[in-house]
Amino acid sequence: MKKIESHSIIEELLPAELDHIEQALLSRAQTISKNAYAPYSGFHVGAAVLLENGEVIQSSNQENVSFPTGVCAERLALGYAGANYPAHAPVMMAIVAQRGGEEEWAGVSPCGICRQTINEVENRFQKPITLLMLQPNGIVLRTKGISQLLPLKFDDLNS
Ligand code: THU
Repeated sequence: MKKIESHSIIEELLPAELDHIEQALLSRAQTISKNAYAPYSGFHVGAAVLLENGEVIQSSNQENVSFPTGVCAERLALGYAGANYPAHAPVMMAIVAQRGGEEEWAGVSPCGICRQTINEVENRFQKPITLLMLQPNGIVLRTKGISQLLPLKFDDLNS
């Protein structure tokens, strides 16, 4: 038996270590999270996607009384980007979340289905997407490419 070890690189940044583009994208995600429709979970998520042409697409999560019908902020934003800007690769996505009634931002990272969706977009445009994930106290986790969050993903093993 051989052990396969996987290794991810996730950078942890203080607010002062973010550049202007990253700060602006996180801020767009925070603003749009206020439009979350999350009466069931009370978890308000915002995602802002920077396309290579400089355009920013943003969305919040939109829930449904039939819970699985609800859609995450990340997938809505990437779906809109693909539908409206099919010629422009997404290069960076900021993700933030806040629980209803709380001041502090919650920790967040994309769910499994969103990770798979991000993988598809990276493959479509042959470009990694940098993810910025806001955590409490203004800390930001940054990864370059979904592989860091999705080891042994489907298309790594079936190609
Ligand atoms: N959610 C997102 O929109 N993005 C994430 O990264 C995590 C989860 C949504 C789904 C659901 O509406 C609520 O947050 C609680 O899971």
